[in-house]
Amino acid sequence: MTTVLKLGGSVITEKDRAETVDGAALDRAADAVAAHDDDLVVVHGGGSFGHHNAEAFGVSTTEGTHDVAGVTQIHGAMKALNGLVLRRLHDRDVPAVPVHPLSAANRDEDGTLTLPSGQVATLRAEGFVPVLHGDVVAHRGEGVTVLSGDEIVTSLATSLDADRVGLCSTVPGVLDDADEVIPRIETYDDVADVLGGADATDVSGGMAGKVRTLLALSTPATIFGLDDLESFLDGGRPGTTVG
Ligand code: IPE
Repeated sequence: MTTVLKLGGSVITEKDRAETVDGAALDRAADAVAAHDDDLVVVHGGGSFGHHNAEAFGVSTTEGTHDVAGVTQIHGAMKALNGLVLRRLHDRDVPAVPVHPLSAANRDEDGTLTLPSGQVATLRAEGFVPVLHGDVVAHRGEGVTVLSGDEIVTSLATSLDADRVGLCSTVPGVLDDADEVIPRIETYDDVADVLGGADATDVSGGMAGKVRTLLALSTPATIFGLDDLESFLDGGRPGTTVG
């Protein structure tokens, strides 16, 4: 059984301090992973390592750069964060191995992502825990653009035929108007009132786009907070299940 787990960048880093990990949160996440590292693929976001640097060079998932200093700085910061995540996992004897998306992935002119997963599947089969991260990615016609951890998760969920997909976020799930967690979202109509209609742009902290993308997956995905990471890895469905 393969589980793809994303650790949100704002969960494991200090949002307002450039390139600073939230040590206590990362320790908790690493403890939970160490207790359940069976057939797990980990992806982490950028938080204060990714977004500050991407903004400094005007790079987003659609707007690219050809500036090699930008590529080096954004990719370098993400590799630095990846190294810090790996160190915490190694401290707990998790056989974590880094996989850097820039070296493997590619976008077409229309933004379509190709992310090979053979190396991830083989590392998994050989008993390792592959740890990928949000990154910059070669993008035809744009130079490089940002590749988000969410895009990596959705791509791997399909290519690895994952049984479970979890997104550990700074919120305990998708919240309704009264800030209560919505346990299950089966269609976008279920949450259009809360997250915005079908044409709404992604103004709600990325949640509308996240839910739309997750609904397109064949595997149900679960969005939950750090307090529920253990419960998710134990087989539970805390927070919000989408799909
Ligand atoms: C961002 O990845 C990667 C870069 C900005 C280079 P994510 O978009 O997945 O990061 P978080 O989880 O939102 O911080």
